[in-house]
Amino acid sequence: MAKLKVGIVISGRGSNMAALIEAAQAPDYPAEIVCVVSNVAEAAGLQVAKRMSIATAVVRHEDHPDRESFDRALSAKLEAHGADLVVLAGFMRILSQWFPERWAGRLLNIHPSLLPAFRGRHVARQALDAGVRVSGCTVHLVTPDLDAGPIIAQAAVPVFPEDTEATLSARILRQEHRLYPLVVRWFGEGRISVANGHVDVKGLPQGATLLFSAEP
Ligand code: GAR
Repeated sequence: MAKLKVGIVISGRGSNMAALIEAAQAPDYPAEIVCVVSNVAEAAGLQVAKRMSIATAVVRHEDHPDRESFDRALSAKLEAHGADLVVLAGFMRILSQWFPERWAGRLLNIHPSLLPAFRGRHVARQALDAGVRVSGCTVHLVTPDLDAGPIIAQAAVPVFPEDTEATLSARILRQEHRLYPLVVRWFGEGRISVANGHVDVKGLPQGATLLFSAEP
């Protein structure tokens, strides 16, 4: 069967992007990464993608007068590479309403908290300030609201009293690298559907959309 064509959008380091590119190298993986697009020309992830032989492109938000015209240019770039699914991986820009509507049902994001808790930026700081004992990451379909949309899967990790933003973010990031390739695999296998704002992932054992890691 033809593989799902995935376009990844980044703004920075691109470690989730690298995890996805690596996963997609497995012969049985149902998706291929067709391009990596960044809104930041200096994003370190672009060099990583090039080294991994993936096509890259830059669409600078500074070159566009408003959010929607930037979003349209980004979308055109993804379409030019034949993307069927758009995966936001550390893309740190607020989208206009147009983009999630254009890619409705085919736009994923990963966020480093157990949504709906702790949207926006400085997410590990927010979790530490709130004193939560558990945090994690969420992969969700993107709707026009910030860090919102039907949840597909989550991974949970403990929060320890001695944690700093750096240690907690690193613990969550290790789970992001497990979770995102898994969800894109399910997408490629055609298992994901949405009804009444809730996601169903067909044919998985009960509980498989929640990962947990107790490692420090
Ligand atoms: C990741 O932790 C991702 O969840 C977060 O940015 C980081 C990017 O790291 N995304 C958001 O906060 C989006 N709201 P990476 O560039 O190494 O993948």
